[in-house]
Amino acid sequence: MVLTDHSLDSDRIPEHVACVMDGNGRWAQIRGLKRTDGHTAGEEALLDVVEGAVDLGVDWLTVYAFSTENWRRPIDEVQFLMRFNESILVRRRDELNEMGVRIRFIGRQDWRVPKRLKRQMDEAVNLTANNTTLTLTIAFNYGSRAELVDACRKLVASGVKESDITEERIAAELYDPEMPDVDLWVRTSGEYRISNYLIWQSAYAELVFLDTYWPDMRRDHLFAAVKEYQLRNRRFGGLSS
Ligand code: IPE
Ligand code: IPE
Ligand code: MG
Repeated sequence: MVLTDHSLDSDRIPEHVACVMDGNGRWAQIRGLKRTDGHTAGEEALLDVVEGAVDLGVDWLTVYAFSTENWRRPIDEVQFLMRFNESILVRRRDELNEMGVRIRFIGRQDWRVPKRLKRQMDEAVNLTANNTTLTLTIAFNYGSRAELVDACRKLVASGVKESDITEERIAAELYDPEMPDVDLWVRTSGEYRISNYLIWQSAYAELVFLDTYWPDMRRDHLFAAVKEYQLRNRRFGGLSS
């Protein structure tokens, strides 16, 4: 998608944008680099997209950083991603904090996530907890199926009666009950897959697929996706007004 027109309707900015940051490995491979160099290059893309989201007035930006299925990758890449995410948090949290970004995480905090990384996650969350400009949620060791399984477990553990199980009650047990439904769901890299990302929250999201590999993603691509979103007619099962 090529952005030719920056004119966006400020009354129809999506409240919640979700991004699948995909294509790092291919970005690196076509340049003769290591796959992990692609992850490194993705950091600049992320910061630019965060700034773009702030500029637009998006309230919630959720990015997919590591899926529950990504443990299937070679151990070297998995270890790189653990250390890399820790280092991004340490190096970028002050800058994000100054921008008014509130950092949150969704995902399973199981034993495979290194303690050092968990510590940095907690630090970033605590440091930025009172910020109000943008909530940046990082989906880490995240999968929608795991999230729904965990929600069911919490419901059962709470002794809820069958007749009290409602959509609201389930939503209240998701990793971040405050997270609003996704309005705009974006995936880079030319793949047309959901890959277990925010399935419950995206039930009525508008899906936009970009050919760009994540390391090349910049705020202009986000603006283009929002432009596309604004051309859509959301009906939520009803009829257009
Ligand atoms: C996305 O890029 C980052 C993670 C999944 C951690 P990929 O690593 O999936 O890159 P491709 O899809 O193989 O190009
Ligand atoms: C989704 O991308 C996960 C992240 C971007 C973190 P993948 O590259 O893991 O997804 P598949 O395997 O192509 O579906
Ligand atoms: Mg991928």
